[in-house]
Amino acid sequence: MSSYNELSVEELCELKNGLEDKYNKFKSMGLSLDMSRGKPGGIQLNENNKLLDEVCSDSDFYSENGWDVRNYGLPYGIPECQRLFAEIMGVDEKNVVVCGNSSLNIMFDYISQCMTHGTGGCEPWMKQGKVKFLCPVPGYDRHFRILEYFGIEMINIPLLDDGPDMDMIESYVVDSSVKGMICVPKYSNPTGITFSDETVRRIAALKPAAGDFRILWDNAYIVHDLSESPDSLLEIFSECKKHNSEDMIIEVISSSKISYPGAGVAAVAASDSNINEIKKRIAVQTIGPDKINQIRHVRFFGSADGVYAHMKKLAKHMAPRFELVLKIFDEELSGKGIAEWTNPNGGYFINLKVLPGCAGRTVSLCADVGVKLTGAGAAFPYGKDPEDAYIRIAPSYPSEDELQSAMEVLCVCVRLAAVEKILEKREKS
Ligand SMILES: Cc1ncc(COP(=O)(O)O)c(C=O)c1O
Repeated sequence: MSSYNELSVEELCELKNGLEDKYNKFKSMGLSLDMSRGKPGGIQLNENNKLLDEVCSDSDFYSENGWDVRNYGLPYGIPECQRLFAEIMGVDEKNVVVCGNSSLNIMFDYISQCMTHGTGGCEPWMKQGKVKFLCPVPGYDRHFRILEYFGIEMINIPLLDDGPDMDMIESYVVDSSVKGMICVPKYSNPTGITFSDETVRRIAALKPAAGDFRILWDNAYIVHDLSESPDSLLEIFSECKKHNSEDMIIEVISSSKISYPGAGVAAVAASDSNINEIKKRIAVQTIGPDKINQIRHVRFFGSADGVYAHMKKLAKHMAPRFELVLKIFDEELSGKGIAEWTNPNGGYFINLKVLPGCAGRTVSLCADVGVKLTGAGAAFPYGKDPEDAYIRIAPSYPSEDELQSAMEVLCVCVRLAAVEKILEKREKS
């Protein structure tokens, strides 16, 4: 099949008729498939079920420092859980606070703290007039929603294959109203790329005009390798130490996609001075997190090695799904000049880039035959994809049969939307 752009109007019309026939067949199938969020599937969740047996009524309820985890206290987490997360992140445990169940929650609270109380001895952001954040795109919709909630202006920074466009970032940080960046450095949501060593080094070497410039380093997929040759990410704090810039980084992770989303454990790592600011706030916010959940996670995983071994088990469920999506894209979309996609070594998502102006139409065509995808534009601040070209694929939740059907529908919709767009352009010209 030659590229769609090379086809004559007659050939395109014929192609469109054939695709419409296929599409109408899907319509009559009464599908109801939800691929809108990156949730683990049931089989993956079952791999964790022994975790629930780790704390039972005749358990030893004491953390290693002798604290009864059933009671109030230890607002910064039990020491063995701090150590577990410190080991995973490659940082010192004294710089880690283990919180509740959600890293998103940690990020929200941190931004809120900067807005109302400031950081690094600077004025609260809410008193500094317009405050801006750099947002590598496509990115994670819920990050953008936090920033939008606080009225922080978001600046799109293209996310390239090796990380955000660093030339652009370096040119923006000379503006003192630019207060930070929010990013996913490993297996980014949604493109699945990992920041290169060079990118991490350039980030660590930034010299922002704002003394209170903070990077939310959301390492949500730090251990979520799927390939035999996984990506590796430089440890950011070690790089920052070379430039005395550790205060720039607030790193968060959680076990949401290691154990249970919503019932996992989340943690934050930050420099001495930032972690002290965070602790001061947390000491007011809570009398203590859910330490029963923390201890059962430590007992279930044992150590960082236990987490890595567990992730290998989960990868056995995830990798075939990624392979299936990529195989179908290859068979149905390649060589037509209408789509490109990422092939990540880990994480939860594949990013599909369709012809400009076709993402919204594709997603709505899918919805009309019962396949719900993440909304077009979701991966951009304010929900606005300037190219209307990006579609996030989340293969984790449906069964493999459902995934197969959903991808077949998607490919027909991508092709149909592309033919419509090309014909529309031809009519205009
Ligand atoms: C990049 C990223 N950060 C954070 C989260 C949410 O994490 P948590 O469940 O810890 O709030 C997700 C969930 O999809 C994610 O993709």
